[in-house]
Amino acid sequence: GALVAIVPAAGVGKRMLSACPKQYLHLDGQTILEHTVHRLLSVADIQQVIIAISEEDGYFADTGLQQHPQVTTVYGGKERVDSVLAGLKAVDGSRYPWVLVHDAARPCVPEQDINALISRCRETGDGGLLAYPVRDTMKRGDAADQVLETVEREALWHALTPQMYPVGELQAAIEQALADNMPITDESSAMEHAGHTSVLVQGSSENLKITRPDDLAMAEFILIRQQKNG
Ligand code: CTP
Ligand code: MG
Repeated sequence: GALVAIVPAAGVGKRMLSACPKQYLHLDGQTILEHTVHRLLSVADIQQVIIAISEEDGYFADTGLQQHPQVTTVYGGKERVDSVLAGLKAVDGSRYPWVLVHDAARPCVPEQDINALISRCRETGDGGLLAYPVRDTMKRGDAADQVLETVEREALWHALTPQMYPVGELQAAIEQALADNMPITDESSAMEHAGHTSVLVQGSSENLKITRPDDLAMAEFILIRQQKNG
């Protein structure tokens, strides 16, 4: 079954404090966006990648992705969810009934984790997402940073991407959540809100979202080590 991936890459990367949006910073000789797209396309089932870029983007044209036969672009929007929605609208649903959404800022996602997500969704027939269990003890605090309680950790996971869902259901769920003024930080939250089931598929914590300057050195270290280990 052929799959399409949507890559939201229309953010400005405010927290990175860099001159250009973080997805265009270079790690080990390539932009972060190129690493991410190449990872996705290394998965046999993923045949097309739709990248949501900013209308003001001045960098994409200089990447090697512009001419790539499996890559198309759309214009993203104000929030991540708007960019994802723009990508969903560009999907040919008759060719690709299921879609994976993956952050441009997660170049270290292991190929085997993507394959695990795809297999699990196919087995269960449900949508799902990569995630990994919380390791630290979790506290709930109040406005004055006083501890209110210790939160049961056993049931808590870090939500990662890719997240994989049926195209039509995901688009409807996002449109519903937007209409209901619900904050949507990932696809799974919109699907939950719409009453759909999602499966948590355990992935690697190496699949970090590059967010702040400190994350760059860690991501480059992981990328180089992954390449060495094949
Ligand atoms: N993104 C997007 N459209 C937006 C905002 C974000 O496509 N309007 C993308 C980013 O490019 C990134 C992913 O969504 O690949 C995850 O968002 P985040 O890590 O928050 O990136 P930014 O929003 O760019 O960073 P910041 O929040 O620090 O400004
Ligand atoms: Mg953001």
